[in-house]
Amino acid sequence: MGRLRFWATNEAQWLTVPPSRLGSDAATGELKWRKWLKRRERRMSTQARSTTDLTYAVHRRPDPRSDAERATILADPGFGLHFTDHMVTATWTQGQGWHDGQVTAYGPITLMPAAAVLHYAQEIFEGLKAYRHEDGSVWGFRPQANAARLARSARRLALPEMSEADFVASLVALVQVDQAWVPPFGTGETSLYLRPFMYASEAFLGVRPARTVTYSVIASPAGAYFSGGLKPVTLWVSTDYARAGAGGTGAAKCGGNYASSLAGQLEGIEHGCDQAVFLDSATHTYVEELGGMNLFFVTKDGRLVTPELTGTILEGVTRASILELAKELGLDPDERRVSIEEWKDGARSGDIVEIFACGTAAVVTPVGELRWDGGSVDHRRDGADVGAVTQAIRQRLLDIQYGRAEDTFGWMTRLV
Ligand code: COI
Repeated sequence: MGRLRFWATNEAQWLTVPPSRLGSDAATGELKWRKWLKRRERRMSTQARSTTDLTYAVHRRPDPRSDAERATILADPGFGLHFTDHMVTATWTQGQGWHDGQVTAYGPITLMPAAAVLHYAQEIFEGLKAYRHEDGSVWGFRPQANAARLARSARRLALPEMSEADFVASLVALVQVDQAWVPPFGTGETSLYLRPFMYASEAFLGVRPARTVTYSVIASPAGAYFSGGLKPVTLWVSTDYARAGAGGTGAAKCGGNYASSLAGQLEGIEHGCDQAVFLDSATHTYVEELGGMNLFFVTKDGRLVTPELTGTILEGVTRASILELAKELGLDPDERRVSIEEWKDGARSGDIVEIFACGTAAVVTPVGELRWDGGSVDHRRDGADVGAVTQAIRQRLLDIQYGRAEDTFGWMTRLV
């Protein structure tokens, strides 16, 4: 019997494993190898949890934008176009864990062309917003939920976990230094969008989890995600493309999922739509999500239905919050599979009275027409752009986020 060779991820060499250690065949060998990988994964996460809290050394840039330049940007920030003066970085190395937390000038990053992230997409990210309240304080919406999701994404992408404390501290560090970039209270739906991300920065072309990883946070003043205000979006049913498949990375917030959604989105745009709806990849029957947003359906009998989490749908923080808000608004939350036929039939019959998409960036956005190859349907009867339930959920969320209503759920965390 031959010997099996595996790449040993912690020893940086090919291991030739004798058959006696593997069992009698390659399948048993693979099982042992998987167990070894699992043990390694556990070691990585224990290392992350036991890391003493990162401290972020602040190096303020000598040349921040002037008050006038900043004011011009904040007057009409758009989405994802402008960035604040600083950024956070921290490094993880095997053995040392997370270290070297810094706040430095926002600017280009240096990566070797062989950096693993550029080849194998070992990358994850988060998105959350910081809101200015009337008294000038700045608050983040459920950053602990983002910390937990980052940790789940890290496990799936074989990246090191970061503790909730280190994650929240990184946001506080950046927002403190760049607090002037948080738009003033009362200037519409403006906020400071925070984008934490983590990537394999090790220069190495072997396919294995990186041993040097960089974490970073950048911040971008944000207005409405969709230009042109709160208008219903037209959706295209993508049947040729799926966003994620069973056992894949669909539940993780990793760049690859967003890249895989782009072809479907382009197809939608070619058909005059704003976004694409992705269906389950196995049967092309069940509604999953939009790629950057989750979906909700309001039925005429007062249920608030959303596709259940199947491992291929991103567990949105806004989605989870809306499910909690539902009861307060007298709605019956219902997480279950929703077929595309149910959508079409419900829109035609009037059983579905409102549809909306939600996410951190877009908050709550009404959905209008649904188009597919050979047809279309629109559930709206009264011509209203935003249905009453959609409007109420949107308003309730925004009121909590901007401190205009009591935070009865304990969702807000003060950052500055
Ligand atoms: C968010 O809503 O934060 C998203 O992740 C959507 C998109 C901007 C990637």
